[in-house]
Amino acid sequence: MASEKSEALFTAVETRRSIYGISGELSISDKRVREIVERAVKHGPSPFNVQASRAVVLLGAEHHKLWDMGDAILKGMLPPEIYERLAPRTAGFRRGHGTIAFFEDKQELKEMGEKNPAVAGMMDQWSEHANGMLQFVVWTALSLEGVGCSMQHYNFDPTFYGGHEEDMGTSRELGPEITAGVWRTETWF
Ligand SMILES: Cc1cc2nc3c(=O)[nH]c(=O)nc-3n(C[C@H](O)[C@H](O)[C@H](O)COP(=O)(O)O)c2cc1C
Repeated sequence: MASEKSEALFTAVETRRSIYGISGELSISDKRVREIVERAVKHGPSPFNVQASRAVVLLGAEHHKLWDMGDAILKGMLPPEIYERLAPRTAGFRRGHGTIAFFEDKQELKEMGEKNPAVAGMMDQWSEHANGMLQFVVWTALSLEGVGCSMQHYNFDPTFYGGHEEDMGTSRELGPEITAGVWRTETWF
């Protein structure tokens, strides 16, 4: 049974769900989305306080561009009958307003590993844990503000983020993406 003090947290945790039927208008401003992401990045825990987690907020046209890439990747790699089944799913993500792409800065992790050689081999795994914590906070905070989100992993194809290399540098690897839009009552899959 949650104590009174943790009740607000558990209410928030229970509010977060995967929402797939979304449309392109948000219940909050773009500025507020960025504030939420920045605050979560700043206050999230990380191994040795390395703070290597990064998030890129793609809104509007940038978001559409990303999911056009997602569609092109699926089309290029899948048999047509399977692509036809999955294409509406990608189109549903595109219908949203924004995507938050998560990364770990591998250069920061390498340097931290050099300072702590005994655990250098663990830094990648631990930083992924930190990134997961960050994703959860962002997803939950957006849900509390009425934004419909789901988590997607199109990073199985390294070209997915193509065209945004300047956001990544060369030492970063794309993690999952949280797609945000306003909740819609209908589902599309
Ligand atoms: C590490 C991780 C990876 C996930 N990857 C995907 C994904 O690629 N696509 C997707 O639609 N949902 C993904 N999910 C969301 C889960 O399927 C979802 O959270 C779970 O089914 C529970 O549903 P809920 O989010 O509505 O509570 C992922 C969740 C986690 C924690």
